[in-house]
Amino acid sequence: MTKHFINLNDLSNNDLQQIIDQAIALKKQHKSGEINNALQNKTLAMIFDKSSTRTRVSFEAGMTQLGGHALFLSDRDIQLGRGEPIIDSAIVISSMVDAIMMRVSSHDDITTFSQHSSVPIINALSDESHPCQLLADMMTYQEYNGSIKGKTVAWIGDGNNMCHTYMQAAKAFGFTLNIATPKGYEPEQSFVSQYADFINLCADAQTACDNADLVVTDVWASMGQESEQTKRETAFKDFQVNTALMESAKSNAIFMHCLPAHRGEEVSANVIDGKQSLVWNEAENRLHAQKALLLFLLG
Ligand code: CP
Ligand code: NVA
Repeated sequence: MTKHFINLNDLSNNDLQQIIDQAIALKKQHKSGEINNALQNKTLAMIFDKSSTRTRVSFEAGMTQLGGHALFLSDRDIQLGRGEPIIDSAIVISSMVDAIMMRVSSHDDITTFSQHSSVPIINALSDESHPCQLLADMMTYQEYNGSIKGKTVAWIGDGNNMCHTYMQAAKAFGFTLNIATPKGYEPEQSFVSQYADFINLCADAQTACDNADLVVTDVWASMGQESEQTKRETAFKDFQVNTALMESAKSNAIFMHCLPAHRGEEVSANVIDGKQSLVWNEAENRLHAQKALLLFLLG
């Protein structure tokens, strides 16, 4: 059966851990200058209907580093963007390439596409989740602080796609996730019910950060929510990760953010650019985590 990576829980906890360990090894191998051509003659199609810096560059560079090729397909250029049915596109594109990465607005479209694809489909961000980012985040935590099992993670801000995937990661990697969001911006109820044993919905950001080993946030308005920016700035004003908030966490707590970030909104400049922040390592690790994912799916 074709393996897909549409949500973190598509893979077993063991497989996820194996991917993280492999990612750390691939990073060392790359930095040592050793060549790895494991994906020679393989092609990854990358379908985007939303902007991207990290995801596009990391998948494309990752395929090059493994001896393969990546194909950038913007919805402005392919017939899918002009209304060719998802199912027809899935059948045709998957008949020509070895894997397909998709960043499209609707999570359901990724699921439909995967049901008609003969090759692995990777969710590169949907309105529901962002599993590739969590591979990089878990890799980064492990590199800098060892296992995340039994630790406390604080999610501050919007109950969005990143928050949902952190909920899934809490179960898969065995940590407790404290979530603080403004009222009306909680994660989807289906996620709250499914991951209830691994999360605490907190009354405020301070409580969520109490004794946390890792503090994570994301933009207040995600892609597609630009018209809500002003309304959200008011709703989220008490949910900025700043020095005062980081002081509620453990003294050696790490800060992460998937980026792009808005300094002065969800995070203060002195936190994201400060000593506790691992955001640059986290971004770089997208490259190695996804190479490990591609090897796993195409292996
Ligand atoms: N974090 C992330 O997915 O970044 P991009 O939107 O730049 O790909
Ligand atoms: N929540 C953000 C993540 C960007 C990587 C968005 O969906 O725009």
